[in-house]
Amino acid sequence: MSTLLDISMTEMSPVNQASPVPAKMAMPDAQTVTAVTHWTDRLFSFRVTRPQSLRFRSGEFVMIGLMGDPDPKTGKQKPLLRAYSIASPSWDEELEFYSIKVQDGPLTSRLQHIQPGDQIILRPKPVGTLVHDALLPGKRIWFFATGTGFAPFASLLREPETYENYEQVIITHTCRDVAELDYGRTLIEELKADEMMQELIGAENLAKIRYYPTTTREESPKMGRITTLLEDGTVFRDLGIDGISPETDRGMVCGSLDFNTDMKALLEGFGLTEGANSEPAQYVVEKAFVG
Ligand code: A2P
Repeated sequence: MSTLLDISMTEMSPVNQASPVPAKMAMPDAQTVTAVTHWTDRLFSFRVTRPQSLRFRSGEFVMIGLMGDPDPKTGKQKPLLRAYSIASPSWDEELEFYSIKVQDGPLTSRLQHIQPGDQIILRPKPVGTLVHDALLPGKRIWFFATGTGFAPFASLLREPETYENYEQVIITHTCRDVAELDYGRTLIEELKADEMMQELIGAENLAKIRYYPTTTREESPKMGRITTLLEDGTVFRDLGIDGISPETDRGMVCGSLDFNTDMKALLEGFGLTEGANSEPAQYVVEKAFVG
């Protein structure tokens, strides 16, 4: 967790004015935006070109951003960077990101206006703990996400290794409203329907996915925080699973700090121990970055 906490961020500090994104900037590590999708007034995803030399493991994150406003005294511009999980899989020729829009956030107040053809900064140094290498072999993998914490799992769900390693792949996603589930729901629907993905991953492997979306502030078929639904056994009843055990189950957690803390306690309660790249174990945790 330490690397994450060092560079984790919130988009809270106000800026006086949101500057438009210049179409072409003389920037180091520039990549070109190829597509932007706005999911809600709080959420958007976008794709950018991938530096040819960039290799990463599905689930990792990189620093991305824009040039900041010129310093009023010196006129110099500094890059404004934030950590973002790469939402696309390691084999994809482009990179995808999933972001919150914070209206007074220094970066996302501007980043939300990017359009195809614009440039962003991308530091090609991927890191992170939500990687298969940090987990010991198991039978079932659980991906637990809230909000934009879905991003690393959008990568891992499109990664063939996920299905080679596990017999079952359970993805839970808790959001405030139904519309905030759209990015994840659409991704899973398209993944299962896409011919190229069926060829790459295999239809029988895609059938391993169990998607468990829940909402907390708007009516939906399954309401409540995933933490509560794990505690009272609802998830296990719904999925027809005995429970979570260190012998069979592995977990990856990505959400707010509070969510991560609560999930850690729950998974430890089920007998799982936290892993890292240097010491694989039974679950791993990472903070969902912006927001
Ligand atoms: P809630 O509506 O009860 O706060 P956010 O949009 O604030 O990032 O939250 C995303 C989702 O994560 C919301 O549904 C929120 O539920 C849920 N959530 C927030 N904190 C926790 C937590 N500690 N444990 C479980 N779910 C949480």
